[in-house]
Amino acid sequence: MTSKDNVKKQIERLREQINEHNYRYYVLDNPIISDAEFDELFERLKQLEKSHPDLITADSPTQRVGGAPLKAFAEVKHAVPMRSLENAFTDEDIHAFDKRIRERLQQEGAIEYCCEPKLDGLAINIRYEKGLLSQAATRGDGETGEDVTENVKTIQMVPLKLRGDKFPRILDVRGEVYMSKKGFEKLNAQAEEKGLKIFANPRNAAAGSLRQLDPRITATRPLEIFFYGVGGVEGHKLPAKHSEMLKWLEELGLRTNPLIEVKQGVAGCLAYYQKMGKQRDKLSYEIDGVVYKVNEIAQQEKLGYVTRAPRWAVAHKFPAEEVTTSIEEVEFQVGRTGALTPVARLKPVHVRGVTVSNATLHNMDEIRRKDIHIGDIVIVRRAGDVIPEVVGVVKDRRPKHIKKITLPKHCPVCHSGIEQVEGEAVARCTGGLICPAQQKESIKHFASRRAMNIEGLGDKLVDQLVNTKLISSVADIYDLTQEQLEDLERMGKKSAQNLLEEIEKSKTTTLPRFLYALGIREVGEATAKQLAMHFKTLEALQSASIDDLQAVADVGPVVAEHIAHFFREKHNRTVIDKLIRAGVHWPAIRSASHAPLAGKTFVLTGTLRDMTRDEAKERLERLGAKVAGSVSKKTDYVVAGTDPGSKLDAAKKLEIEILDDKDFHVFLQKYE
Ligand code: IVH
Repeated sequence: MTSKDNVKKQIERLREQINEHNYRYYVLDNPIISDAEFDELFERLKQLEKSHPDLITADSPTQRVGGAPLKAFAEVKHAVPMRSLENAFTDEDIHAFDKRIRERLQQEGAIEYCCEPKLDGLAINIRYEKGLLSQAATRGDGETGEDVTENVKTIQMVPLKLRGDKFPRILDVRGEVYMSKKGFEKLNAQAEEKGLKIFANPRNAAAGSLRQLDPRITATRPLEIFFYGVGGVEGHKLPAKHSEMLKWLEELGLRTNPLIEVKQGVAGCLAYYQKMGKQRDKLSYEIDGVVYKVNEIAQQEKLGYVTRAPRWAVAHKFPAEEVTTSIEEVEFQVGRTGALTPVARLKPVHVRGVTVSNATLHNMDEIRRKDIHIGDIVIVRRAGDVIPEVVGVVKDRRPKHIKKITLPKHCPVCHSGIEQVEGEAVARCTGGLICPAQQKESIKHFASRRAMNIEGLGDKLVDQLVNTKLISSVADIYDLTQEQLEDLERMGKKSAQNLLEEIEKSKTTTLPRFLYALGIREVGEATAKQLAMHFKTLEALQSASIDDLQAVADVGPVVAEHIAHFFREKHNRTVIDKLIRAGVHWPAIRSASHAPLAGKTFVLTGTLRDMTRDEAKERLERLGAKVAGSVSKKTDYVVAGTDPGSKLDAAKKLEIEILDDKDFHVFLQKYE
């Protein structure tokens, strides 16, 4: 053997040892050598690599802090969307969750759940290709995240290479990146010394650290990770249970939470919740609740998903935290429909590391009912991400001088009159769309993802555009020019161009989206869809009478009146005309009997190459098809993308026609 071969062998051996010790330390929490001994191994590897740079490989444990600082993060489209979880707060909520599941699965006996601590950090997807870490992305909006590969590689607990020698071709594994309580305190102490930014809580600190453009900074931050799921896998058959899948992840060297337990039924879940609640303060990291997941993967697949969350899992949150403080002032905020919301400005208080200085008072009725005054000492509740609210007044500590809270006579933003309809709790600004607050809110709604989906037209930008009087209605969006946008603060040539492209793209939409985007009171996504299906054209809807409107499922007298009122309003008609003239358009909705796929039922499974499941569903529905969640004898077609679930097996068994990615495209092209 040449000496070169010899060195190569030594290097490989050292890497193996280091990886194995890392695994014992982080995953098994059972190290067999001291830190000093570990450092020695690491140093030896570094020295050898230094004198033989040609032998350095990307997966070497010395290569965690690579690349130069980035200019911006690239976008990553998730192969399978990263969903979030439904929240539950009470035992009753959990009973209801379990009942829904048993009903859907038609199971009498207890369901088996995998119970996990819910970490308060940020979700991440890490891709391993043939066992090597190839990409890491944040959750983003669930569909598209940011490429933070270089930063994630600096987290010691994340293996650059999976353990063993049998790896899936591709593994998308999901977990939570977080910062321990100690790590967070230490980081803030250092920041304070250096006069740098102090983070409000460990979660913000973790998010801020992961979103550094310079990986060398991230490398200094004490980030940690627990893995809790698989987004997708190719070239490997997953075990039949979630808990077994977690064990498999652990064998691959991916750290999972040792407090995870499998429990039977609601009783088991609630016992777990109690136990974690007691342990919570002793844990080295923050948790804001626990998560229950149906353990059987086949059952998970049967249950499927509602828009943003799985039906088979729920987050059981710990009770909101309450503190007392005083109300210094009350201001009124104006929403999209002109509704005034009283907001208490509080003497700032800390709740588990977060500074709370505002709380909602909901409406005047609530203020009266709770007898709240300016100057009062109040109990404030913070529940997760929800806006804090004032629960009640501490009457024993009421100061001598308190001030009554009165509804303003004029809108604090546009000075129009305020009206309060008999019997309604809400007071509203009558300024309608001349009120800049209402303008802003309605434009934000119009541009939002589930409406016209104009990416880049976020809250801050809308505020700026309205404040500078560049736009005052949703129709004005389509008049914006490159020059106007470039002149704005924080807007470069490139981002102005991108925004204009997004605006242009939004012109091609669907009637349900358009109706939802208009922001008619009480017309949500579901009602917008119903209206579109029923009336087929905007013209038909616009000229519908109250009776016509009430013929639509879900539309009662109140909603019908809101819709009719909206289209009677001259201003709204002008805006709609202007939008159409600007080029906003949608494909015609064919009447049910003419719809080419009327009466056909589809089931979607796996990931499609060029479209999300939502999109596929939207397009099929437009052609008159029904899209169901599970395969049965009534299913006509199963569309199977990559990594299809058990639905594909079911389809084969029932001899249902299966369309792959390509077939599906051809199919759509034929009918659209
Ligand atoms: S499962 C489809 N498990 O909570 C299932 N999430 O509110 C999606 N989280 O975005 C997530 N601990 O960032 C899951 N043990 C756990 C979790 C967990 C924390 C976070 C995660 C997710 C959010 C949803």
